[in-house]
Amino acid sequence: MKIAVIGAGVMGHGIAEVFAIYGNSIYLYDKYPEALKKGLNSILWSLQKLKEKGKIEDVDKIYSRIFPINDLQDIEDSELVIEAVPENFDLKSSIFKEVSGIVSKDTLIATNTSSLPISELAKNVVNPSRFLGLHFFNPPVLMKLVEVIKGNETDTSVFNEGIEIVKRIEKIPIPVRKDVIGFVVNRILFRVFTSACRLLNKYTVEEIDSLAKYVLEFPMGVFELLDYTGIDTNYLISNEVKKRGFDFTCNKLKELYEKGFYGTKVGKGFYDWSKGRPNITKTEKMPSPEQLLKDAINEAIWLVENGVSTEDEVNLATKLGLGWKKGIFDYARELSIK
Ligand code: 3HC
Repeated sequence: MKIAVIGAGVMGHGIAEVFAIYGNSIYLYDKYPEALKKGLNSILWSLQKLKEKGKIEDVDKIYSRIFPINDLQDIEDSELVIEAVPENFDLKSSIFKEVSGIVSKDTLIATNTSSLPISELAKNVVNPSRFLGLHFFNPPVLMKLVEVIKGNETDTSVFNEGIEIVKRIEKIPIPVRKDVIGFVVNRILFRVFTSACRLLNKYTVEEIDSLAKYVLEFPMGVFELLDYTGIDTNYLISNEVKKRGFDFTCNKLKELYEKGFYGTKVGKGFYDWSKGRPNITKTEKMPSPEQLLKDAINEAIWLVENGVSTEDEVNLATKLGLGWKKGIFDYARELSIK
């Protein structure tokens, strides 16, 4: 398949890499030459890692399927376009208007937005019936989940096509049947983030992350994950979702954003990353699992009750999208919250 990925940042270059591994030809576009260069270097680094681990054979062959471009007109013959630019509604809207004027009206156009409404974004394209959400998780090459989101105008056949495309790259698609803010995983994750931020009144970053890592056995601490996915990304998302009635407020996030401490990518966020991943130690004092997870569990129940996804799908989505050993409903049962 000929695929265009718009934006070579953390998500964009990772998505391009995954599709290239599975034999697709990729146009990787970024407006900024430096970002494109950085994205390509990250792809090479990642492909070499995968080769070391015996997961792929030929780095050069895969890499040669990726064509870096800096003129959007070059994507004209794409069969699928995936947008992965920063989480700013106006920016995404203008990209979709431009893309839609270049590709055929039969081209499938997808957004990797983590939270913005698909149906609102779809208003910018000529053919909204062929517009959908394909939401990958960071790092796309390692995380098995992709949320496939149906906008109000997405044709059912297009929704099903999205599910098939995800299966072809050996990821697990989770159908998100209603276009709700934050979809499934981020809706739950935002509740974990807000609970963690609220707990900063009584506990330190390390104490909360110690609970996440050593008791709940998450692969990363909650604040470590905020750094990893980007303080800037999360802050921009929190503003966009707040405008649409979903409150994911965290004063500390705003403070870090304003200081330019964007997390892993700049070497500083909640943690200092200048020497690599933070070493989170097990602390004596920590909040209880209920304090961190109760709101997230209630959110998961809401998703099922509102027919967004089934209980099994939501449970699996939290395991695969966040690398948790247990799904959100497994925790709910253990904590007798449900
Ligand atoms: N490509 C190839 N290899 C990679 C890689 C990549 N992109 N990223 C990391 N690796 C490698 C590491 O280099 C390391 O290799 P090594 O064994 O040779 O040193 C190996 O993978 C394991 O990495 P680590 O030792 O650093 O740590 P982990 O075992 O914890 O695995 C992880 C890393 C898979 C990222 C794991 O920590 C994890 O699952 N974290 C949670 C991530 C998560 O929750 N993602 C979703 C966030 S929400 C989201 O993305 C939504 C968005 O919209 C904001």
